[in-house]
Amino acid sequence: FQHDRDSQFILSDFAKDFYQNILHNHDQGQSIGLPYLKERGISLNTIKKFELGYSLESWDGLTKAALEKGFQEKFLEATGLTIFKEEGKKYDRFRARVMFPIHNVSGRTIGFGARTLKTNDKSTPKYLNSPESEIYHKSDVLYGMFQAKQAIRMADVCYMTEGYLDVISLHQGGIENVVASSGTSLTENQIKLISRYTKNITVLYDGDAAGIKASLRGTDLILEAGLNVDVVIFPPGEDPDSYIRKVGDNAFREYIKSEAKDFVSFKTELLAKEAKDNPVKKAEAIREVVQSIAKIPDSIKRSVFLQRCSSLFGIDEQVLISEYNKIALQEN
Ligand code: GTP
Ligand code: MN
Ligand code: MN
Ligand code: MN
Ligand code: MN
Repeated sequence: FQHDRDSQFILSDFAKDFYQNILHNHDQGQSIGLPYLKERGISLNTIKKFELGYSLESWDGLTKAALEKGFQEKFLEATGLTIFKEEGKKYDRFRARVMFPIHNVSGRTIGFGARTLKTNDKSTPKYLNSPESEIYHKSDVLYGMFQAKQAIRMADVCYMTEGYLDVISLHQGGIENVVASSGTSLTENQIKLISRYTKNITVLYDGDAAGIKASLRGTDLILEAGLNVDVVIFPPGEDPDSYIRKVGDNAFREYIKSEAKDFVSFKTELLAKEAKDNPVKKAEAIREVVQSIAKIPDSIKRSVFLQRCSSLFGIDEQVLISEYNKIALQEN
C-alpha cells in the first residue's frame, strides 16, 4: 500500500531527527557520540550534512517516543526500528550506536547503518543495519548517492567505496563524487543507479584481501553493464577514510590519480604476481583476464583491451583473440 510506505517514510524521518537530537542535545550524545566522531576527525558541518545521530543506551528510548507520537506498532516493526518479542516485549534495534541515516536519491531517510563504539567487543557486530522493508531494498541503494549525485555528474566519474566513513571522510576532504555499497557486494541495480549520472566508476576498496576480492568481483559486473571501471588499491591495512586522514586531501587526490589502473592492468598485475614464473598459472591468469574482457559489450573497447592484455603479458594478440572467440562461442 502506498499509505503504508508513506507511514514508513515519515517514521524513518522521525527516527533520524530523534537520533540527531540525542547526538547534539542529550548528555549521552554529548559525552559519548560527539567525542567519538570528533576523535575520528569528522567535523560538525559534516555531521550535519550527513544527518548523523546517536542512539541511546536504553531498551526502548526510540520506541517509546514514537508510540507517544502516535506511530503504529506495525510500522515500527516493518522498518525494523523496534524488535517485537513474544509476550508483547519490544525493544529498540539500535542502542548506544552512532547512527548513519541511509537516504534514497531524493534525500528521504529509508534506513540506518549503526556503528558500535565498543571496537574491542567481539560479541556485538561492528555495524548493524536496518532490515529490508517496503522502503529499503539494500541491493538497490548506494550510501551517499543523494549527497554525491551532482558531483558525480560534474566529475563524470563515481568513486565506489566499501564503508559509510569512507564516503563521509572523502566528502569532508572535498571529494564529493563518492558512494559506498556498505558491506554488500555490488549489484546490477546499484550499477544501473550510477549509470544515470556517469558511465565511469573507480573502485576504491580497502587494502586488504577482502577488498581486493570484492574489487575483482565488482569490476566484472561493471564491465557487463557496459560501464568503464578503474581500480585503486590502498596500502595494506588502509581504507579511503584512514588514508585520506593520514596523508591529507591533496596527497590523496594525487594517489588516486597516479594509482588508478584500468581493470586489465589491475587484474593482470595481480594475477601475474600470483603466477610468478609458473607457466600453468600464467596461462590461467591470461584466460581469466580474457574472460573479463569478454564481458564488455562494446567490440571496439574489447579489442583495445585485448591489445593491452597482449602487451602486458607479452603474448601474441592473435592467440588472445582466438581464446576470446572460444569464450564468445561458449556463451552464445
Ligand atoms: P570503520 O571501522 O568504522 O572505519 O568502518 P569501515 O567502514 O572501515 O568498516 P569495514 O571496512 O570493516 O567494513 C566496510 C563496510 O561493511 C561498513 O561500512 C559496513 O557497511 C559493513 N560492515 C562492516 N562490518 C559489519 C558488520 O559487522 N555487520 C554488517 N551488517 N555490516 C558490516
Ligand atoms: Mn527492489
Ligand atoms: Mn575492510
Ligand atoms: Mn574499511
Ligand atoms: Mn574504516
